[in-house]
Amino acid sequence: MTADKAVEAALGALDLDTKARLLAGQDMWTLPAVPAIGLASLVMSDGPVGVRGVRWTADDPSVTLPSPTALAATWDPDLARRAGRLLAQEARRKGVHVLLAPTVNLHRSPLGGRHFEAYSEDPYLTGEIGTGYVRGVQDGGVAATVKHFVANDAETDRFTVDNVVAPRALRELYLAPFEAIVHDARPWGVMAAYNQVNGVTMTEHRHLQTDVLRGEWGFDGFIVSDWLAARSTTGALRGGLDVAMPGPYTVYGEALAAAVRAGALDEALVDAAVRNVLRLAARVGALDGVEPAVTALPEPVDGAALAREIACRSFVLVRNADDVLPLDLDSDLDSGADFDLDSGPGRRIALIGSAARDARILGGGSAEVFPARTVSPLDGLTGALPDGVTLTYAVGATPSDEASPAGPGFTLRAVCREATGAVLADTPLPTGQIQWLGTDLPAGVTHEKLHSVEINGMFTPRASGAHSFGTRGPGAFTLTVAGRTLYDGVQAMGDEADPFEAFTGTPVERGTVALTEGVPVQVSLRHTVDRGRPRPLPAVVFSLVHRPPLRDPDELIAEAAAAARAADTAIVVVATTERVESEGYDRTDLKLPGRQDDLVRSVAAANPRTVVVVNAGAPVEMPWREDVAAVLLGWFPGQEGGAALADVLLGAEEPGGRLPTTWPATLADAPVTDVTPTDGELHYTEGLFIGYRAWDRASGPAPAYPFGHGLGYTTWEYESLEATPTTARVQIRNTGTRPGREIVQLYVAPRADLAERPARWLIGFATAEAAPGEAVEAEIRLAPRLFDIWDEEAEAWTTVPGVYEIQAGRSLTDSRLRVTLELD
Ligand code: BGC
Repeated sequence: MTADKAVEAALGALDLDTKARLLAGQDMWTLPAVPAIGLASLVMSDGPVGVRGVRWTADDPSVTLPSPTALAATWDPDLARRAGRLLAQEARRKGVHVLLAPTVNLHRSPLGGRHFEAYSEDPYLTGEIGTGYVRGVQDGGVAATVKHFVANDAETDRFTVDNVVAPRALRELYLAPFEAIVHDARPWGVMAAYNQVNGVTMTEHRHLQTDVLRGEWGFDGFIVSDWLAARSTTGALRGGLDVAMPGPYTVYGEALAAAVRAGALDEALVDAAVRNVLRLAARVGALDGVEPAVTALPEPVDGAALAREIACRSFVLVRNADDVLPLDLDSDLDSGADFDLDSGPGRRIALIGSAARDARILGGGSAEVFPARTVSPLDGLTGALPDGVTLTYAVGATPSDEASPAGPGFTLRAVCREATGAVLADTPLPTGQIQWLGTDLPAGVTHEKLHSVEINGMFTPRASGAHSFGTRGPGAFTLTVAGRTLYDGVQAMGDEADPFEAFTGTPVERGTVALTEGVPVQVSLRHTVDRGRPRPLPAVVFSLVHRPPLRDPDELIAEAAAAARAADTAIVVVATTERVESEGYDRTDLKLPGRQDDLVRSVAAANPRTVVVVNAGAPVEMPWREDVAAVLLGWFPGQEGGAALADVLLGAEEPGGRLPTTWPATLADAPVTDVTPTDGELHYTEGLFIGYRAWDRASGPAPAYPFGHGLGYTTWEYESLEATPTTARVQIRNTGTRPGREIVQLYVAPRADLAERPARWLIGFATAEAAPGEAVEAEIRLAPRLFDIWDEEAEAWTTVPGVYEIQAGRSLTDSRLRVTLELD
């Protein structure tokens, strides 16, 4: 039987109640099975850098790839496709049918809290990377869910904000990646965003979901709400939303069946939504008797190796004065180091920074997954440095003095008890963080039976001094450390608009205990489950938090500067924190938290060969950038980040990335800094002019680094360029001394200011590899509609005739060759 026939047969066998149930989550991540028609329970999971699975815990780890900003920095859709295949493999291993990724909202403002989770400020690059990713996931027979449709470009008031966007900007920017992916990769899922667009909640947006996505673009997958985004039974179904997640309390299910019975909704609309779910089930092999869309799976992928490869390919070397990188460990260096090279133990490297030891490998919120291992920069360099090279480590500065979920040094378990005190479960915990949502509970535990959860175990301090302990999240707690009760009370719940805020709420310190390095102590945090408060879904969410002893910040910096002075090369890893880049809130500035700027300045003053590695998913201000020898943007580099960093610093690999987003020097220079709605509305007043489209026309200061910028370890000559309206050929030659990979970028610039267009925009790119002296030709397919604009009056695309210059080069501002095309 063909899939279509099987879907119709299954649909015909369902009664109204079952159909209504099938459109609603039965728990946090799954839809109900319907054995009578051979339908298995469809399982969904986040995304996008790994596959978390149905539990928000580390007991079923996932390969963790670099952040989406990093993937986009590779400018390589084929690599994105390989990432997608790996994720499909992980999904299959965990019984997941639907991956809730990729995120293809745009970098409208660097303040966007989930900037790390989206690809770029440019819709074409976003669409190309997203297409590769979706193809890869679906090559593995797993559904991709392109999210968040649409204009979820910031987090402030994300549940309610009305993003007011003119039709032309909506079409040419925010819808464009979705449209390209639907066209080129045929995704099986799309996720409707929380926000409104032009006055209509996205889950109810008939025009965008039904007329545009399904009608104009021919999308034939399922549309799922973002989690808790569906608010109206009739509004959502009429608007084209197929599935309301999560369950068990949703506006679909029983409420949907009742609305049909009351005559408020036509059952044909329910059937249309169920058809989309059954088609999804057929595609992923969850409907008996139908051959899934993919029967021959791709070759297995080595996840750790791929994570390392992507990380190397994503690192963007934005500055490399005097070719300080790759580090030359063999030749005598004149660094000004105040030790005697002849009598010293050979090359010395000073590694500095809290994130060099405790790497921040991924962004926070729903994108969080749990890797089986992480390689920090310290681990990576320690493993890679040859004999005779000395590596020292200094913290230098801590990005945050705030307590955070118990991590390094803790060995913890969660003991779940019922009211009688009887133990329901006793399970290991990788960190002091508990996030049990819906039925995602340890085996043997139910919300009905669960009365208390105790996080207990041992803590072995890495340093002597006053250690602070505390709690995060609302409810009743008893906190005991080394036999002392630090807290026994109730933390009230704030008045939160975002129901997921408990994940990211403020940690509260409850007391300090003097501890000795290396001497373990017993720790216990007991939490009594709160039953009084109505919630959208049953949940147990709280954390044991810890802060190591605070050292004098000036002393820490002085120590690091001394280490730098005694070394040939200083490598400083600076980072943002989970409280800066995560989900549910936006950033308030772009500064590196804590004293990290002072640290870099002091280290740079102590050693001219200072290399700064930026461990952040989004732009940060780097006021010292001209005072250091090299700056390498390392993103959130995934589980193998430290190994990849060693590869690139030592020259085993070239840093392959180019900026997918303009890097401003200061927040004040950034074109869009308003992410806070006024009276519930956020107006995209800048129209088409976000990212480089805005920088290119502004007369103000230039950015720190332009879109597309990034250095490798060789040099390139651009030799020839030919272009037609559909393809271009660019010949380049490697003029350096080592093999390299170049990302050839093509931009189009209209000669006249036609139809209020940006000065130029990206229309194609390709990677090309060449040995020293070798020339290669890149053939580049140009973006469709590269001469088109969205005509708001005609409500259609229209080609703008005129003279256009095609520019080929190394970045937006480093054009090497130009040709013109005339369009009548
Ligand atoms: C996020 C989605 C995510 C979902 C499930 C939401 O809060 O916005 O991106 O897929 O939660 O975790």
